[in-house]
Formats: sequence, C-alpha cells, structure tokens
Amino acid sequence: MRRVITYGTFDTMHHGHIRLLRRAKSLGDYLIVALSTDEFNLLKGKRAAFSFEERKEDLEAIRFVDLVIPEQEWEQKVRDVDNYHVDVFAIGDDWKGKFDFLKDQCEVVYLPRTPLISSTSIRGMMRTA
Ligand code: CTP
Repeated sequence: MRRVITYGTFDTMHHGHIRLLRRAKSLGDYLIVALSTDEFNLLKGKRAAFSFEERKEDLEAIRFVDLVIPEQEWEQKVRDVDNYHVDVFAIGDDWKGKFDFLKDQCEVVYLPRTPLISSTSIRGMMRTA
C-alpha cells in the first residue's frame, strides 16, 4: 500500500482544498491529513473560523481522506513520515521547495494551487456579508 501525507489548516473547506485532496489521494492508496491544531494555527499567525474538531469532522467526511492526525509543530514531519510509513509527501506549490529535506525519506510532490480561492478570501467575504 502506497501511503500519502499532506498538511494544512483546511478552514472553511473550499474547492481548492478538495482538488488538493483528490490529487494527493491519486498519488497512492491511503491519504493521511495532518490537520493544524488551533494552538499551532496561533503559532503560525492564523486564526481559523472553525475549530480543530469541526475541521477534522469535515475532512473525515471526504472520501479521499483515510486518516486525520493533529499537526502540532513544524518539526513533526520527519517523525510522521517515519511512524506512518509514508511513501509520498504532497502539498500545494505555495510551499514549493520548503520540504525538500524530506526527500531523504520519501517522494516529495508540490501540487499546483487552485487559483483565485483561499480560506483567507472566504473569511474576508464572511466578515462583510
Ligand atoms: N490549496 C490549494 N489551492 C488553494 C488553496 C489551498 O491547492 N486555492 C492547498 C494548499 O496549498 C495546502 C492545502 O490546500 O496544500 C491546505 O491549505 P490551507 O493553507 O489550509 O488553505 P488556504 O485556503 O490556502 O488558507 P489560507 O488562505 O489561510 O492560507
């Protein structure tokens, strides 16, 4: 079984997220999503509209997603790839080159980001609605 892992906040789930998850899953047979906790989002300077539990529930409802684990710190990736026997690390190309250090452990794939949509833009619309 080929295992794929991806990381993110996945707040106000949108078309760009679904496309990312579909393509990530197609790189293997089993997709793990490491979902940023509320505490880690604060550390990243992000404030999600939905809580970790709500975001996790939504991700678990998506058929491409097999397992959701918490992302609590930047440094856990090396450990996760090892512990979960990951073959492919996949993430949007807004992170291009940032995780090349994982190439010693697994394949690293940067997927083209879907243009014109982001959680930030949706949150902006929610505020003015
Ligand atoms: N993503 C994507 N296309 C988009 C938005 C996100 O492919 N239009 C990908 C990101 O590259 C990442 C994953 O979806 O691999 C999770 O992204 P996340 O950072 O949670 O979402 P954004 O919508 O980019 O959130 P923000 O605006 O807060 O940065």
